[in-house]
Amino acid sequence: THRFDLVVAANRLPVDRVEAPDGSTSWQRSPGGLVTAMESVMQGRDGVWIGWSGEAGDAPEPFDDSGIRLHPVALSAQEIQHYYEGFSNDTLWPIYHDVIVPAHFHRTWWAAYERVNRRFAEVIAELAAPGATVWIHDYQLQLAPAYVRDLRPDVRIGWFDHIPFPPVELFAQLPWRRPILQGLLGADFLGFQRKADADNFVRACRRLLDLPTRSGQVTVGIGDSERLVRAAAVPISIDVASLADLARTPAVQARAREIRDSLGNPETLLLGVDRLDYTKGIRHRLKAVEELLREGRLANPGTVFVQVATPSRGRVEAYRQLRTEIERTVGRINGEFASIGSVVVQYLHQSYGRAEMAALYLAADVMLVTPLRDGMNLVAKEYVTARVDDGGALVLSEFTGAWHELRTAYVTNPHDIDGLKDVIVAAISDSRQVRRRRMRAMRKRVADHDVNAWAGRFLDLLARDSGPADGSR
Ligand code: G6P
Repeated sequence: THRFDLVVAANRLPVDRVEAPDGSTSWQRSPGGLVTAMESVMQGRDGVWIGWSGEAGDAPEPFDDSGIRLHPVALSAQEIQHYYEGFSNDTLWPIYHDVIVPAHFHRTWWAAYERVNRRFAEVIAELAAPGATVWIHDYQLQLAPAYVRDLRPDVRIGWFDHIPFPPVELFAQLPWRRPILQGLLGADFLGFQRKADADNFVRACRRLLDLPTRSGQVTVGIGDSERLVRAAAVPISIDVASLADLARTPAVQARAREIRDSLGNPETLLLGVDRLDYTKGIRHRLKAVEELLREGRLANPGTVFVQVATPSRGRVEAYRQLRTEIERTVGRINGEFASIGSVVVQYLHQSYGRAEMAALYLAADVMLVTPLRDGMNLVAKEYVTARVDDGGALVLSEFTGAWHELRTAYVTNPHDIDGLKDVIVAAISDSRQVRRRRMRAMRKRVADHDVNAWAGRFLDLLARDSGPADGSR
């Protein structure tokens, strides 16, 4: 088999195999920020992407899609339940996002998590050229770094955490906290979205493994096998040039106008775009909009709130409950405030292509990004990037990684509904000049730190020799 100098492993491939009602299958782009960012990084490089194809059973043969070599890993139906829906998304996801919903602990889930991580490591070991760079992604694959090191001590191993890394007080709840840290410590370099996440990781190693640490580094092993594992903030970004180019095309510009027309040319078009996930603060957002309508602070008629909620993890109970609750709330708001022929909340439980998203971003007066916790939130970066007209306004939760970069957004604590309402009103009623100034500063920040800069920086930090643990050379 051909071996690669750059081996990327993530739970998901950038495309999913989807089956249509007639039984035919096709490949569709997978949801989420990881794919948004890594897809364009990989397009420019000669490497392989290892991941799950989104279906149960035998893995398809390796293939090429949009210029990327893809190598599928098989998951059985039970592994999907235990490793993916269970341990990854019903144990780790809630713990890593401040336990917004309770986390569930099952030993059978953990066993599947170990088994699947080992399978990924075996495929990585098989495909990596001598001395290759191995880049492992996200919370689904925290054990793979150590497994890869065992199998292939010659390769350089990096891991990037797309989501928050929790404070040790929350992380310590995990019955498997030590093997998880040890799994990660198999890497040479660990990248996080914020410095606080890197600090949480280093602190967890000190408190739970008793390892010697300094800011941004952990010492593992003793004697000749002693080495340093480095941890730093490397905030992720998007492919700015391609999205800005797309937003400038006449087709997208025309589509943006058409969207406003079809909504009856509202005075104010509010927009939310999220995977349907309890971390995203969609309920808080709806509550704020509902109260503003009731109080007459949002014009009715005159206001339309479009909420795109991309289907996600629909077999996990917490996601089902959230969906029911959101759909009930949307129904209630429209029941009270809509009129014949027009709704106030346009709720779309669907996913859209890049051009349609760019048009929606251009059409919206105010973008509502209100997560209760989010590693980065690339929708915020997409919105400002698509605003090639310097128009629009971004309401942004302080509990996102994006807030640490987009400091001229209209900041909000989404738990504070009154505060959120005031910020939405300010974002609508501030002068055009003020809004443009805020938007320009955010656009510049994202343009100066695009996804290529992110990948370049991660790979540089990974390639850097850490030297002996005492820092001497
Ligand atoms: C987040 C995670 C990704 C994940 C994505 C979509 O962005 O960080 O690892 O791929 O959500 O979730 P899903 O479970 O559908 O892969």
